[in-house]
Amino acid sequence: MPYPQKIDFIKLLLTLSKTLDLGTSGLTRHHQMVALASMKMASLLGLRRDEKEDLFCSAIIHDIGVSTSAEKARIMDIDYDAVNHAIVGWTRLKESPILFPYAETVKHHHDRWDGSNIGLKGEDIPLNSRIIHLVDRMTFIIKNDKPVIGQETEIIKQIERLSGKFFQPLLVKCIKELIMEESFLLDITSDFLPSLINNYAPSIIREVDLDGLMSIASIFAHVIDNKSTYTMRHSLNIANISVWLAKRIGFSEKELKMIEIAALLHDIGKLSVPDDILEKPGRLSPEEFNIMRGHTYFTYHILNSIDEFDTISEWAAFHHEKLNGSGYPFHLKEGQLSMGSRIMAVSDKFSALSEDRPYRKSLTNKEIIAELNVMVESGDIDGKIVKILKEEIEEIRGLINKEV
Ligand SMILES: [Fe+2]
Ligand SMILES: [Fe+2]
Ligand SMILES: [Fe+2]
Repeated sequence: MPYPQKIDFIKLLLTLSKTLDLGTSGLTRHHQMVALASMKMASLLGLRRDEKEDLFCSAIIHDIGVSTSAEKARIMDIDYDAVNHAIVGWTRLKESPILFPYAETVKHHHDRWDGSNIGLKGEDIPLNSRIIHLVDRMTFIIKNDKPVIGQETEIIKQIERLSGKFFQPLLVKCIKELIMEESFLLDITSDFLPSLINNYAPSIIREVDLDGLMSIASIFAHVIDNKSTYTMRHSLNIANISVWLAKRIGFSEKELKMIEIAALLHDIGKLSVPDDILEKPGRLSPEEFNIMRGHTYFTYHILNSIDEFDTISEWAAFHHEKLNGSGYPFHLKEGQLSMGSRIMAVSDKFSALSEDRPYRKSLTNKEIIAELNVMVESGDIDGKIVKILKEEIEEIRGLINKEV
């Protein structure tokens, strides 16, 4: 596929934002709820088209600064001063040539109207941040175990309690109007939400090149890696090693960028794995390992639903497949595993063995080679790639934890 190319930018953001809502209890659709409710507020307030675009794009990724399940749980308390993840989100977004326009809105999405936390105050807070703050807190007042119709009075009571403190009174007035329409609460909580989102989302087709996609991928790599202290740099490590091996094997410039993106996103499905499994200070039980084995399935389906990522999704998601067909989750065989997928599998093993894990320290080069040899002999991974790696092991080891 030639780059730069015109891509459906909203579809890309919507797909990636789903990963932010992956959790132990499945997909919570928090970002979609906030985005749809924000768009309804925007219509009521008569926002301009460009303001609506900024609002939608910011709302659909507003919690990009959250990685751990513990933090996800904390920010559900509406009185909690959740400003930290907003700053983290801003720090990540402002580095991307594609997503930086949304950094400011995300930075201020928990700033309180009365200035009682460290953010801005009153009308100095960007309007879109004020809208996201209000609808975001509102979504956490809704009780999932009760019919949503009938909760209006309680929701309004809670919001009014914070009017003039957290929220701008004018916006509170608007949202009260929306809440009194049954359809509003049903739209944001029912199974129609994903299709409604498509109706309300602005249409943005924009030109993006592989470097732009890479900047988005590296933001998500940080979200993934920050989920566990043991994987702090895993996605970056596997990216460095995959690119090194692919270069040696003769990949083109374009393919090198593609494999870097695939590596940065290879574990995106791990956002569905509970933190206590990722942080477990010992070997996983069979049941925990089963949960872990689901992660590449999620990686595949998330990335494969992005049109531009057809090859990237395979390179990323097949890193636990084995040439002898005994890998997971698709049990692919030698003929179905392309060079990109094979490089990813070898890089993943090498990075993992070079990094500390909860149940062991990083291995020495000699120990790593011994482990990789066993895997080649069992027909798990490609011996030709391992041969290149063994010849240059010192140099490749130097890529682990290297600042980029
Ligand atoms: Fe937030
Ligand atoms: Fe949120
Ligand atoms: Fe993995």
